[in-house]
Amino acid sequence: MTLFRNRKTQRHHLLGLALGVIGLAIIPMGSASALTLKTQTVELPTSTRVFPGDSAGAKAANTYCLMCHSAGMVMNQPDLPKATWLVEVNKMKNAFKAPIPDDQVSVIADYLDSIKGKK
Ligand code: HEC
Repeated sequence: MTLFRNRKTQRHHLLGLALGVIGLAIIPMGSASALTLKTQTVELPTSTRVFPGDSAGAKAANTYCLMCHSAGMVMNQPDLPKATWLVEVNKMKNAFKAPIPDDQVSVIADYLDSIKGKK
């Protein structure tokens, strides 16, 4: 396979290559003086990223309750009776199709009652 069919296109390609090389040599020199990097410090708002604690319930909640919304969706609710948390977890599972194993539903409801239960 021949890359260049005749002398005319060969010259054309070489000219393009030469201009490209010159261009690459010039651009870094020009931009080096125009670009000055500064360091900025930004304070981001804090939020509840995960459910607190290390219990089985906290682990289950962190495993099954954070894939669609943040922990804040739960933590910002008012304190609720345990039965209401159970309804809520079942609603997530049955209505919204959260993939919560059957044996984890009451574990999570107990946990939510322990951190946000209405006594
Ligand atoms: C499959 C996705 C999904 C998962 C997983 C999920 N949720 Fe939800 N959750 C939703 C949707 C959708 C809403 C409604 C959001 C809206 O109304 O804007 C919601 C809303 C909520 C609310 C607000 C009250 C309400 O009923 O709308 C609470 C509390 C809540 N979820 C708790 C949980 C808990 C606890 C878990 C883990 C057991 C969980 N969610 C897991 C989808 C999910």
